[in-house]
Amino acid sequence: MRHKLPEVSARERDGDPVRLHVVTGKGGTGKTTLAAALALALAAGGGRVLLVEVEGRQGIAQLFGTPPLPYEERPVADTPGGGRVSALAVDAEAALLEYLEIFYGMRRAGQALTRFGAVDFATTIAPGMRDVLLTGKATEAVRRRVGDRRRGGRDTPAAPHVYDAVVLDAPPTGRVAQFLNVNAEVAGLARVGPIRNHADKVMETIRSPRTVVHFVTLLEEMPVQETLDGVAEVRAVGLRAGSVLVNMVRAEHVAAADLDAAAAGALDLGALERGAKAAGLDRPDAVARGLAAEMADHARRVRAEAEVRERLAGIDLPRYELPLLAPGVDRAGLDTLAGRLRAQGAV
Ligand SMILES: Nc1ncnc2c1ncn2[C@@H]1O[C@H](COP(=O)(O)OP(=O)(O)O)[C@@H](O)[C@H]1O
Ligand SMILES: [Mg+2]
Repeated sequence: MRHKLPEVSARERDGDPVRLHVVTGKGGTGKTTLAAALALALAAGGGRVLLVEVEGRQGIAQLFGTPPLPYEERPVADTPGGGRVSALAVDAEAALLEYLEIFYGMRRAGQALTRFGAVDFATTIAPGMRDVLLTGKATEAVRRRVGDRRRGGRDTPAAPHVYDAVVLDAPPTGRVAQFLNVNAEVAGLARVGPIRNHADKVMETIRSPRTVVHFVTLLEEMPVQETLDGVAEVRAVGLRAGSVLVNMVRAEHVAAADLDAAAAGALDLGALERGAKAAGLDRPDAVARGLAAEMADHARRVRAEAEVRERLAGIDLPRYELPLLAPGVDRAGLDTLAGRLRAQGAV
């Protein structure tokens, strides 16, 4: 039973909660930001959530305004209702030392290896090894139960899980399927032995119906194309896509008819000029022309966005939209985004 991939039980089909949320997306679309917002949304109302970062950028610490995260789980935010988000920045080298100790009782040897640069060597020649160390930490946290002797130890099925959910700020879309497909990555490295067993356990968690991959995108051609490709790739390796998170959506201020007129260059310049004059502005004619040009730009953008929205609608996944906030998203901004996720039923 333990080694078989679990069937989707009725309970799970009826919405047993997802326990591992993998967040990917084209770089710069707001992966880290939305992973954090999702963690806060999941913690709201009393959940225990772990937010995991694997790219070594300390993006989470920056976002929550905390000192750089050590390789250790640290609380970063409390939420109303007694919820808590903890965070962990996984470092492949530290994870390797930890596994050497757990599997081979080799911490000292591991430290000697590090001194001689062997860890770098190992992770450089075998990128698959590096990935399994990173996914290994996230999936161990998913399985961990209260009272587990040590990390990586047995799970004691009777005890509750330490975390209700784990959110993984994953590598970008182009790499995520490979990153998560630990089995394939490790196949060439270890056919038997503790690393193989570990990889099997990691894969069992990743393939579980309670693990999903969310795709962050903007309403732009490139990230939308990457999302479509990413969903297909993730499904091709047997994993579940969860949702599409459309980030930085700008509010609409202009009525559809005016947009059409603006796009067609047919705005009533006279009316704009009279408006500018009534507002007491200098050079109302220039103001009117400037406004018309801006509206034409805006109209073109809105049309382009409508086209990519259409393409996203072709994916059979729930889609949640998050607003463009003021630059430099802080805790208040994260709370706003978390609120939007909850309001749309994302968690
Ligand atoms: N909804 C949003 N509104 C405004 N700025 C945002 C939003 N989401 C992300 N950002 C900003 O965009 C930049 C990239 O976000 P980040 O989460 O680091 O992206 P990624 O992890 O995909 O590289 C950051 O400066 C972040 O503050
Ligand atoms: Mg990031």
